[in-house]
Amino acid sequence: LTEVRHNIKRGNYAELNGKDVSFFESLIGPTNILQDSTDDLQGYNVDFLRSVRGRSQLVLKPGSTQEISEILKYCNERRLAVCPQGGNTGLVGGSVPVCDEIVLSLARLNKILSIDDITGITACESGVILENLDAKTREAGFVVPLDLGAKSSCHIGGNISTNAGGLRVIRYGNLHGSVLGVEAVLANGKVIDLMSDFKKDNTGYHLKHLFIGSEGTLGVVTKLAILCPAISDSVNVAFLALNSFEAVMQTLKNAKRHLGEILSSCELIDAPSLAASIENNNLQSPIEGYPFYMLIETSGSNAEHDMEKLNNFIQLVMDKGDVVDGTYTSEPSKMLEIWKLREFISTALTKDGYCFKYDISLPLRSFYDIVKVVEKRAGHLAKRVTGYGHLGDLNLHLNVSCEQYSPELYKLLEPFIYEYTAQLKGSVSAEHGIGFLKTKYLKHSKSAEAINMMRDMKQLLDPNGILNPYKVLY
Ligand code: FAD
Ligand code: MLT
Ligand code: ZN
Repeated sequence: LTEVRHNIKRGNYAELNGKDVSFFESLIGPTNILQDSTDDLQGYNVDFLRSVRGRSQLVLKPGSTQEISEILKYCNERRLAVCPQGGNTGLVGGSVPVCDEIVLSLARLNKILSIDDITGITACESGVILENLDAKTREAGFVVPLDLGAKSSCHIGGNISTNAGGLRVIRYGNLHGSVLGVEAVLANGKVIDLMSDFKKDNTGYHLKHLFIGSEGTLGVVTKLAILCPAISDSVNVAFLALNSFEAVMQTLKNAKRHLGEILSSCELIDAPSLAASIENNNLQSPIEGYPFYMLIETSGSNAEHDMEKLNNFIQLVMDKGDVVDGTYTSEPSKMLEIWKLREFISTALTKDGYCFKYDISLPLRSFYDIVKVVEKRAGHLAKRVTGYGHLGDLNLHLNVSCEQYSPELYKLLEPFIYEYTAQLKGSVSAEHGIGFLKTKYLKHSKSAEAINMMRDMKQLLDPNGILNPYKVLY
């Protein structure tokens, strides 16, 4: 149990009793309640990385904002702690209870409410699975401006609550820009309607941003409106091999300059990451044997024009000697195969046994050095030390895999990696959030004044601290 391993002192919350369960049963119906006496709650108590394990005895699956409002009002009055949960794909231990918090699953809030066929503005409930939302918007000629490897399980509400980044931030920006409105339920059960159909609305404080990236600690997101861009008629994917990180930097510079407005993704994969993806996911790569690879995607509206740009770019980077091998395609099945190599690195690394994950922002010139430094530090204790991620956003995923969790290796990695990142004025969490696993390190990326202001906001919105305790500010 995480509570024991991390020596967590349970907060001063009430203990769940039979009367509480009866209240919830009368409110949402017994079929929408799971209890550890009769059901297997393991999947709700353990996170994707198997790094946090709680001991919740109760999972609630409400079906409406009103039900969530009544649940929170009751929990707030009773001082029962609650852990909001979307698809449970979060990578910082924020989505599962640490002690015995009630799990509030958003899975039944899965209705798509509207898709405007001219503007692409889409409104839905927060428990819609990202892939399902994207499939529906595509039918109307639009795409969700967010894509990530967990799309088949994560909820759009979970994405908003973590301010997830993913594979296309370089093109569409982050969710603070594309989410137009949210509806949220506060800890005391009050529903705050911040839904909007407009990109431009400069009236007062921009409260919706409080719920984008606050990881279930300030309110439960129940609805949202998101601006979906038009689908691209022409998509190309290039998979390129490079011999040095200097060549990677030059190729990024040239991609930004020469692909410009059609560049929709620019990802880095190093040799150990590619090897993990091939070996553990049983995939094949069109090219192998180089230290670095870049996956570059273009999305535009004119196939001929886009292909001409891509051809010119590839010619240029090969002539310069930066790209030494590669392939490119616009065939959907081939693009998918290339994307799998990148998207499933995360899953592949967990198959090594255990994986220590670091999701950091670093200045480009020092971007890859840390991978080599950590490789030396970890020595034989690591199975693989890998560097991959969203190069175009300066977001490195430094991952260290091993056969099983090793406290010795953990001590070599932390706090070293975070202190190293802080020295370079990077971010200790570029896109995954703080959750439970990174609370100690928040101070490296936020000043004491900023953390105090965050505490004041938490106190204002959740004075009894019932929403996702032990997370973010702990
Ligand atoms: P959960 O994991 O269930 O919850 C995450 C946090 O949000 C928790 O703190 C939870 O309490 C809170 N929460 C969830 N729903 C709500 C709600 N409705 N209201 C309030 N709080 C809520 N992240 C990236 O940024 N970029 C990536 O490229 C990326 N790729 C990934 C690939 C894989 C294979 C995996 C497993 C994860 C990846 N992630 C990535 C992590 C990412 O944070 C999640 O996948 C996703 O955003 C979380 O959504 P979820 O529905 O699973 O939320
Ligand atoms: C990714 O980009 O693949 C995700 O953020 C998950 C990870 O960090 O492994
Ligand atoms: Zn990522």
